[in-house]
Amino acid sequence: MVVFKKKSDLIAYLSSNFDSNSSIGFVPTMGALHQGHLSLIQKALDDNELAVVSIFVNPTQFDNPNDLVAYPRTLETDVELLKTLSNDIVVYSPNAEDIYGDEVVASNFSFGGLENEMEGQFRTGHFDGVGTIVKRLFEIVRPTNAYFGEKDFQQLAIIRHMVKQHGLPVTIVGCPIFREDDGLAMSSRNVRLTENQRDTAPFIYKTLLTAKTKFGTESVTKINEWVNTKFSKVEALNLEYFVIADENTLKPIEEKKEQSKYRAFIAVYAGDIRLIDNIALN
Ligand code: PAJ
Repeated sequence: MVVFKKKSDLIAYLSSNFDSNSSIGFVPTMGALHQGHLSLIQKALDDNELAVVSIFVNPTQFDNPNDLVAYPRTLETDVELLKTLSNDIVVYSPNAEDIYGDEVVASNFSFGGLENEMEGQFRTGHFDGVGTIVKRLFEIVRPTNAYFGEKDFQQLAIIRHMVKQHGLPVTIVGCPIFREDDGLAMSSRNVRLTENQRDTAPFIYKTLLTAKTKFGTESVTKINEWVNTKFSKVEALNLEYFVIADENTLKPIEEKKEQSKYRAFIAVYAGDIRLIDNIALN
């Protein structure tokens, strides 16, 4: 396992050990790795001659400074976990200076309006930060394929949009959401949950599953009301948003149309820990 802190060392290693035709599978992460991340990395290993994983808690995508400080950083354990998959994974774990130089700021992006919905409404500047870091990482790693989880479905849509818009030479591969046995979507933030919050958190996915069943027979307005009422009775969880949206435009809907694909998206606070999830409805 090789771990690079500097992009110059990573680039030199890649160019001297692999010819330019080798396919590189890339998985960008912020570390505190769990089985959800590992499922993406396993796919990158299976599909490519070489897998590169970046581990970098990107400051420019955090709208909440406390969340940035509290975000778990566990590089040693992460590397041990990666070794359980393969010893040949190449890890890039830079500091902010290697990525941003002296100015740790995001560039401005427009993602065709995708950035204005859901996460974009509640996390100002978040997707500018994501676009900035992912574009820079693509320029450094030059991957053939890059793997993103549907756990962050809006992020995946935005990255696909950016790749198209800027003509970036990479194929984006979306991967299914990996869950705990009780349904809670795996997340690096889950380790911060108290025992009571952790016990209550599967309620999020349970609610999504019921919303999916209701979607066949009930109106969107009724489902929205039902979800809000349900959450108002759970003390440990505060609903930030529940939105049923068109899977392509991510615009919230009021009425279903034939032929369109829909998804329910949810963001919930357990104390100061923000959890998101989503589910395909049809
Ligand atoms: P992070 O939250 O570490 O997630 C890295 C990748 O793992 C993302 O593509 C995310 O969607 C995926 N992932 C996380 N939990 C998952 C789960 N339970 N099942 C499947 N995939 C899961 O997303 C980021 O980091 C950052 O925004 C990043 C893209 C690295 C840019 O900084």
